[in-house]
Amino acid sequence: MSCSQLFFRFLILFAGLLTCFSAVPAYAGHDGMALLKQQCVTCHNLSGPAPRTLAALIARKGPDLFYAGDKYRRRWMETWLQHPTRIRPAGMAYSAYIKSKGEAGSAGAPALPMHPALNVADAADAAEALMQLKASTLRINRFLHQPKVGISEVLPRGGMLFKHVYSCQICHQIAPGVGGTSAPELYSAGRRLTQAFIRSYIRSPQLWDPKIWMPSRHISEENIEKLASYLAALSMSPQEAHHD
Ligand code: HEC
Ligand code: HEC
Repeated sequence: MSCSQLFFRFLILFAGLLTCFSAVPAYAGHDGMALLKQQCVTCHNLSGPAPRTLAALIARKGPDLFYAGDKYRRRWMETWLQHPTRIRPAGMAYSAYIKSKGEAGSAGAPALPMHPALNVADAADAAEALMQLKASTLRINRFLHQPKVGISEVLPRGGMLFKHVYSCQICHQIAPGVGGTSAPELYSAGRRLTQAFIRSYIRSPQLWDPKIWMPSRHISEENIEKLASYLAALSMSPQEAHHD
């Protein structure tokens, strides 16, 4: 075999090896949707619809993300995906958590698993892809333009409605450890969620999630505005509130 033949064979072998290796990683950087489908779809619903039965609701492993673009603020999402914190103090299946806590002889509920964290680049790609996922615009459009109300004016009234009129804190926390544990904490809601989503969800939780246990209270537009502004104020640092 001549030297050039040998070299040629080596080249073919090398090229073969290359194709073999390059076929391994399914997620090539900067394709957020591929990343979501590879690493997130086992726990999150990316295409809808929301659970239609109570059994399906309880079996849900993570919050629905098929309307993430309507619901979350991008900046929060990118940061949270790198440094996830707990949002639902008792996890997704609150009833299962409480049951395990109450079992005779059990040493309390099992520790909830931590959310997988992404590196900076993957968090940006995932957030980019998630922000493209939107539900029917009908649910949210009418809430996009709302008058701004002064914080000092709305805090006492919104807080009063939240705590005493509608008892929202039976399920939601308004500060770490203050309030119920069967729903997402709301002391970061203003940073986490869009204002339009907060208003739309308070108006009708079942429009987004037909079987969810948050009651629909037929709250007036005026009181929705006060509650939403109260939640926005709750999420601000004292300096931010001062500057408003
Ligand atoms: C093992 C299941 C699991 C996997 C895999 C998973 N998640 Fe989650 N995710 C959860 C759970 C459970 C929560 C709720 C956490 C809480 O409330 O404290 C959550 C919450 C979130 C939230 C916040 C939404 C909200 O309303 O609370 C985002 C955004 C998110 N996940 C994105 C992702 C992305 C992107 C991936 C893939 C890279 C991913 N998740 C993979 C289970 C999972
Ligand atoms: C019986 C319990 C319960 C009560 C009472 C309740 N909620 Fe909820 N709330 C929930 C649940 C459950 C969810 C969504 C669960 C999820 O996404 O996992 C929710 C979601 C929300 C969200 C969206 C939060 C998010 O992270 O997705 C807002 C905003 C909210 N509630 C505001 C309120 C307000 C304001 C009141 C009072 C008028 C109230 N809730 C009363 C159970 C409750």
